[in-house]
Amino acid sequence: MRVVSGIQPTGGLHLGNLLGAILRWVRMQDEAECLFFLADLHALTVEVDRAQLRNNRREMAAALIASGIDPAKSILFAQSAVPAHSELAWILQCTARMGWLERMTQFKEKGGKNKERSSVGLFTYPVLQAADVLIYRATHVPVGEDQKQHIELARDIAMKFNNDFDVELFVPPEPFIDGGTAARVMSLRDGTAKMSKSDPSEMSRIDLTDSNDDIAQKIRKARTDPAPLPADPAGLDGRAEAKNLVGIYAAITGESIEQVLARFAGQGFRTFKPALAEALVALLEPLRGRLDHLRGDPAELDRILAAGAAKAAALAAPTLAGAYEAVGLTR
Ligand code: TYM
Repeated sequence: MRVVSGIQPTGGLHLGNLLGAILRWVRMQDEAECLFFLADLHALTVEVDRAQLRNNRREMAAALIASGIDPAKSILFAQSAVPAHSELAWILQCTARMGWLERMTQFKEKGGKNKERSSVGLFTYPVLQAADVLIYRATHVPVGEDQKQHIELARDIAMKFNNDFDVELFVPPEPFIDGGTAARVMSLRDGTAKMSKSDPSEMSRIDLTDSNDDIAQKIRKARTDPAPLPADPAGLDGRAEAKNLVGIYAAITGESIEQVLARFAGQGFRTFKPALAEALVALLEPLRGRLDHLRGDPAELDRILAAGAAKAAALAAPTLAGAYEAVGLTR
């Protein structure tokens, strides 16, 4: 079992990243060989600010370590520091089909109405993502629900390449998605939109850097409905905001929706919201403390990333050599 996953270093971590991916990465560290990376090349697909990107890389590395990624257990690195990702991505661009990429919903969302003006990189983005996991022959890719389609594409690319060149080079990876409520954490302002760092409203998400007061205020102002909480999960159908808040609570405490509802059934949000805020503070306060500490030593963060990149590069090299060999190029 080899686990590989990445996160774009655009801004800090929010609750969706944490519950959908990062805290699950942390749990996998003791079960498998893990590689986690900052997808900084992916961050170039939309407009970038050079100084911000440089700063965000360290900030995200610190946030991951503060959340429990242990560089002594996992290989932590920046994607751009291992050129094999880009080299393999080119070869795989010649395997992936236009039609496959045209079906990617994230491109449709991010490209918006004006997709003619999107960067070509935004379109081929999922091929680089496929290279990220195939280069390490990853078996499991822990991600949130929104990345499922990209990992399935990586599977298709792996199988087509192996088939076209009659090799068993790539391992078709499994998207490893939380079976519970963490797979898709929704906006606090709109229960039908996912919690996202690109949402202009800060009130829509809980950030790792939020103070305890920020957390309490965001939860107090989170959109809800006037009805009390139901006794069973079916009663949450059609109540997207209520469902999301109960789901967040369950994901944090490790309980099922049934267990949470058994405790809060019949009660209104005036009781439930403070309990949720308290659970969030208990989760995030210690992480934030560690983050503050780690930020104080950027040289150490750079050292950790450089050491991770060297290890990752050594693991990537044989796969890249195999891909060149398979297509008839020798280096
Ligand atoms: P990114 O940076 O948008 O998100 C990082 C991880 O957080 C998960 N996530 C969520 N999970 C639940 N609810 C949410 N509201 C939510 N928002 C984000 C994402 O699913 C993801 O797991 N393309 C990727 C980065 C990437 C990658 C890869 C991932 C590049 N190469 C290879 C896996 C393997 C991305 O933009 O994730």
